[in-house]
Amino acid sequence: MAPAAPPLTPDFAANPYPYYASLREAGPVQFHETLLRGCYVLNRHEDMVAVLKNPHLFSSKLMAAGTTMPKELGEDALRYFLEPKSLLASEPPLHTQLRTLVSRAFTPRRVAELEPHIREISRELIEAMLAKEEFDLIADLAMPLPVIVIAEMLGVEPERRLDFKRWSDDVLLASAMQGTGKDLPRLRQSILDLHAYLESAIEQRRHTPRNDLISALVEASQSAEDGFLTPLDLMAFTRLLLIAGNETTTNLIGNGMLGLLRNPSEWERLAANPSLMPNAVEEMLRYDSPAQALIRLVTDDTEIAGHPIPRGARVLLLLGASNRDPRRFPEPDRLDVTREVQSHLSFGHGIHFCLGAPLARIEAKVVFEELFRRVRRVAFAPGQESNIPWSAAFLIRGPKSLRLTAERHQ
Ligand code: HEM
Repeated sequence: MAPAAPPLTPDFAANPYPYYASLREAGPVQFHETLLRGCYVLNRHEDMVAVLKNPHLFSSKLMAAGTTMPKELGEDALRYFLEPKSLLASEPPLHTQLRTLVSRAFTPRRVAELEPHIREISRELIEAMLAKEEFDLIADLAMPLPVIVIAEMLGVEPERRLDFKRWSDDVLLASAMQGTGKDLPRLRQSILDLHAYLESAIEQRRHTPRNDLISALVEASQSAEDGFLTPLDLMAFTRLLLIAGNETTTNLIGNGMLGLLRNPSEWERLAANPSLMPNAVEEMLRYDSPAQALIRLVTDDTEIAGHPIPRGARVLLLLGASNRDPRRFPEPDRLDVTREVQSHLSFGHGIHFCLGAPLARIEAKVVFEELFRRVRRVAFAPGQESNIPWSAAFLIRGPKSLRLTAERHQ
């Protein structure tokens, strides 16, 4: 049995790490009776790596957005999530075929070519943010940046970006089962609007291809085996690219800044040596992962760390706990921007390793470089430090807003 402290409380949202430590003390595999209607919870780095390396035995089927959508959204909205081939939820050989279609657009080299433009967007956002006496790092910078970047990559018109952000947030809310009764009509409308937009964008690129990701996907579907990617599949693919990198990258920037605010010596080390930034971003990812957990479905009777796990069971991989596993990372609760941090699990592991990792890394690196170039010090705005609103979903972790003040370099 898992220790009594249930997740999903405000205390847990503010700081899940004591709970993870208590799980660790209780043993490597705990059965939690209420989470996900009963699941085996893992906390050790090595066990999660073993699970993620075996996608047939530990299937990703439950990662499909539609599996958790409330029925009340209506069939016409849910149909977009039912059949399509999902990169996130598939296994080889389908997964390999799907991933090949987009992997070229996300190699570190291709993404590095975007860096100057990402820097330009970051500078504009940061200048506008610092013009205010008190600003919200999330609303003013961490939220808009990834939306603008992915919307541009996909080829979305600038005037539709805000719609895109809203649709992306609403789909995520609906799939995280957080839509309460009164939200449902809005969530439903967002799903319908997003897909109407995607359908027409895909149709348009079929006739007039452009130099963007939607065109690349349409082209790939045309050259693929007949019927391999249906219009619904194409929409699901585009939707995944839109959604997967939004809130996660926002939270990397938010959690990273919080880590530095709470560890001023690490801020000073970075200020003195900005070339540490790529390493610091890896440490931020390890220290406070934006993706806190993954879910897998067991396809055959097996065992993990000597515990029998039956076919059909759900396994919850607490990535946030694996990154604080003292067997893997010495002094895991210490943020250390010079730590040689290899193999944190914040981007997953194995065949589903985050496709957008190179992009997220560059966005965070550029944002912090540009911030350090301009400001000497940042501080919590009055009342903010003890009152940070956290996202309520336990799979994803990050502050919903972070009100700060900054002192610019002379
Ligand atoms: C997969 C985290 C940013 C696109 C994943 C997975 C994780 C993750 C943990 C593995 C899921 C699994 O194994 O079930 C993150 C974090 C990010 C981030 C923490 C930011 C800090 C992005 C961005 C994009 C993206 C910017 C795209 C623009 C994807 C896609 C997959 C994925 C398409 C599925 C890959 C596959 O199944 O083969 N991400 N992600 N992610 N991510 Fe990210």
